[in-house]
Amino acid sequence: MKVVVIAGARPNFVKISPLLRAMGRRPNFTPVLVHTGQHYDAQLSDQFFADLGIEAPAYNLEVGSGSHAVQTAEVMKRLEPVLATEHPDRLMVVGDVNSTIAAALVAVKLGIPVDHVEAGLRSFDRTMPEEVNRVLTDAIADQLFVTEISGVDNLRREGIPAERIHLVGNVMIDALEACRPRWEQVPVVQRFGLESGQPYALVTLHRPSNVDNPETLTRIVDALETVSRQLPLLWPVHPRTKQALRGNPHVYWHGHKDGNGRHRLLALEPLGYLDCLAVMSRARLVLTDSGGIQEETTVLGVPCLTLRNNTERPVTLTHGTNRLIGTDPEAIVSAAHQALTEPCRANDRPPLWDGMASERIVDRLEARRAAPTKSSPSSIGCQTTSAIGS
Ligand code: UD1
Repeated sequence: MKVVVIAGARPNFVKISPLLRAMGRRPNFTPVLVHTGQHYDAQLSDQFFADLGIEAPAYNLEVGSGSHAVQTAEVMKRLEPVLATEHPDRLMVVGDVNSTIAAALVAVKLGIPVDHVEAGLRSFDRTMPEEVNRVLTDAIADQLFVTEISGVDNLRREGIPAERIHLVGNVMIDALEACRPRWEQVPVVQRFGLESGQPYALVTLHRPSNVDNPETLTRIVDALETVSRQLPLLWPVHPRTKQALRGNPHVYWHGHKDGNGRHRLLALEPLGYLDCLAVMSRARLVLTDSGGIQEETTVLGVPCLTLRNNTERPVTLTHGTNRLIGTDPEAIVSAAHQALTEPCRANDRPPLWDGMASERIVDRLEARRAAPTKSSPSSIGCQTTSAIGS
C-alpha cells in the first residue's frame, strides 16, 4: 500500500515520526513523505527531523510563508503533480495546519482516500484558523483517527458515520515515549544557566490571537514578568512572536547580554524536540497556548496553565494537569501563584495514550486493505461505536 504522508509545520513532524516507523516495519507499506515547506527554518524543521530520526522527505514543496490563502493554494498547486506521479493508494494528513486541509482537498479531488490523524478535535471557535482546517479536513476524510472520546462525539454530531471513526490514542504521545530515553538525558540546568535543583517554568506562545496584537502580547508579557519574580521563566520564542517582542524591556534574550539583575523572563531561540521535552518534563509549571503541550504535560504530570479561553483537547482538563486561564494578566498571575503554592494535581493518562496509537492506525489500514469493499470495523472501531451509543 503506497501512502503519501504529508507534513508541513513543526507539530506535524512529531506526529508523523511514529507513523512512518510503524509503516516502515511492515513490508506491505510504502510510505512516501512529502514536506510542504510551510515551516522551513532549521530550528522548526531540520532539527525536528534530526531529533526524531525522520529520513529526508521524498519531496519538499517549499511553499514557505504567506497569507492563509496563498499558503493553502501553493500547497495545492505543488502537491497535485506529485500525486499524479506517485499514484498513491491513500494520503495521510495529521493535525490541523494549513498544509493539512490543502493536501486533503487535493487528494480527495483526485479520488485518493484521505486518512486524518488527530481528527475530531473542536474548540468551537471558528476564529481559530486551525478550527476551520479541522472541520473541513474531517468532512472530506475517509478514515478518521481520534485521540480522545470528545473527538468521537464531535464527529458523530457532525454526521460522520461511526464506521469511519476510530478512537486509537495519541501519536504525539507515541513520539514522546519513543524518545524518552534520549530527552531524559538532556542536561537542562547547565544549558540555560540555572542552579541545580532550581525550580523554573516553561512558557510558549504562538497563537495569532495572543501574539499578533501588540497590546495583547504586552499585557501577557507584563503578567509573565510578575510571575518571573517567583521563579525563572524559560521562553523559547516562536518566529511569529519574536518580532513583536524585540525591545520589550522585561524580556531578556538568553546569550545576548548579561543575565544579572532581575531579568528572569528568559527568551530563547526555538528549542528542538528533545530539548523541549527535557525542559518541559522538569519544569515546575508550564504556561502555554499550544495544543500539543497541553497533551504532553498531561502525560508528564507537569502543571499546565493554558492562556486561552477554550481547548479542543478537553481530556487534558478532565484527566490531565491542564487548566484554562485565559489571557487576563491578573488571572495569569493568580493562577500561576496558586499552581506554585499548591501540591501538583494528580493526573491520569487518557485512555489509549500508551505509545501504541500509530500501530493501531496502521493495523486499521491493513484491515481495510484486506477487505477494501466492505467496511470491517476493528475492535477499536467497535468500542468507539458502542461508546457513541452510550
Ligand atoms: C502554524 C500552524 C499552527 C501550529 C504552528 C506550530 C496554521 C494555520 N498554523 O502556525 O496551527 O500550531 O504552525 O508552530 O497552519 N516563520 C518563520 N520560519 C518558519 C515558518 C514560519 O520565520 O520556518 C514565520 C513567518 O514569519 C510566518 C510566521 O512565522 O509568516 C507564521 O508561520 P505560519 O506557518 O503561517 O503559521 P504558524 O504561526 O507557524
